Amino acid sequence: MSLSVLKEILLTEERILGRVAELGEEISRDYAGRDLVLVTVLKGSVVFLSDLTRAIAIPHSFDFVGASSYGAGAESAGKVRITHDVSIDLAGRDVVLVEDICDTGRTLETLTNLAALHRARSIEICVLLVKDRGRPREKEHGIRYVGFHIPDVFVVGYGLDYGERYRNLRCVGVLDMESAR
Ligand code: PRP
Repeated sequence: MSLSVLKEILLTEERILGRVAELGEEISRDYAGRDLVLVTVLKGSVVFLSDLTRAIAIPHSFDFVGASSYGAGAESAGKVRITHDVSIDLAGRDVVLVEDICDTGRTLETLTNLAALHRARSIEICVLLVKDRGRPREKEHGIRYVGFHIPDVFVVGYGLDYGERYRNLRCVGVLDMESAR
């Protein structure tokens, strides 16, 4: 796909994959000998999950939760709706919630509550992109693993969409709204 829909590339494919490899090594070390389950939120995080799971060297499982907060536009709707629950048993297991981006943090809060309801033994959070809004978001939301901090701009690519498009871009960039129309 042409990158002409982007006005700026924030993270190249090479940088993303390098950082995902580091996160995979860190999680492999931290969870050695434990019963790790990655729980990912559809749909944007699927691309991140597919690289992260292969960067983790220890045996583990993964599962999906459906949650939607943005609808079709660029602004948060302010509510998170659970559209699909996990299908495997999380009780007594060590859960890492995998998210592509933390914006308002509402999705992470909802997922953390959901994993707690399923009586996970432990719950940690791994987010590829944390939006800086002048506040320490990972402290705010208890995020243990952070890929990158990015400015408070609307980004697409590597799973992130605008109106369900551009998820297939290999990099993360700022959409040029004029050429995206
Ligand atoms: C996006 C993104 C995160 C969430 C982050 O999902 O993939 O899951 O918003 O926003 P928050 O921190 O403000 O809650 P979206 O609802 O757009 O669904 P999608 O993954 O299917 O694109």
